[in-house]
Amino acid sequence: MYLVKKITRKESQECHEIDLMTIKLWNLKQWEKELRKNYVYAFACFRNYQIVGICVFQKIFCNAELTYLSIHPTFKRRGLGKKLLKETFKQCESFAIEKIQLEVSDKNLDALNFYHAFGFKTIGIRKKYYKDGSNALLQEKKLLKK
Ligand SMILES: CC(C)(COP(=O)(O)OP(=O)(O)OC[C@H]1O[C@@H](n2cnc3c(N)ncnc32)[C@H](O)[C@@H]1OP(=O)(O)O)[C@@H](O)C(=O)NCCC(=O)NCCS
Repeated sequence: MYLVKKITRKESQECHEIDLMTIKLWNLKQWEKELRKNYVYAFACFRNYQIVGICVFQKIFCNAELTYLSIHPTFKRRGLGKKLLKETFKQCESFAIEKIQLEVSDKNLDALNFYHAFGFKTIGIRKKYYKDGSNALLQEKKLLKK
């Protein structure tokens, strides 16, 4: 049984532990800083009170940027990424957000397939954006019809 709930700075340590097992994006201080920002919204998927997936987005006027999404390696491909993304869409729609964007490495085919399965389209490229020399592909999904 999985439960999606909003998370706050109190969960920084647990988020950091999951991050270390997945994409290693932020250190503990950065997690604390991110989860303190008042324009940042974060959700986690819990299994037996333990976090197994995390999603973070920030709201910038009518747009949202998905800054973090990862699922504990053991729990991939069980629909948890989908649960977290759907929650993000729901929240964004409640804020009347028009589009949601994110960046993903062109080497991360799992994530690209995942995002494309939910209607994201590649709209730009940032050459050699990541430390490993891979390009960042800018993804966008429109949420509301103008
Ligand atoms: C990308 C990620 C979040 C997907 O989460 P997940 O919980 O494994 O994905 P789901 O089970 O919700 O998948 C939903 C759909 O996305 C697509 N999908 C997900 N993973 C896929 C993969 N590896 N290959 C192809 N399609 C995939 C499928 O259409 C899938 O539906 P299906 O299982 O019915 O075929 C997860 O693989 C992950 O944490 N990756 C490491 C971190 C990462 O790269 N984050 C993104 C950084 S930008």
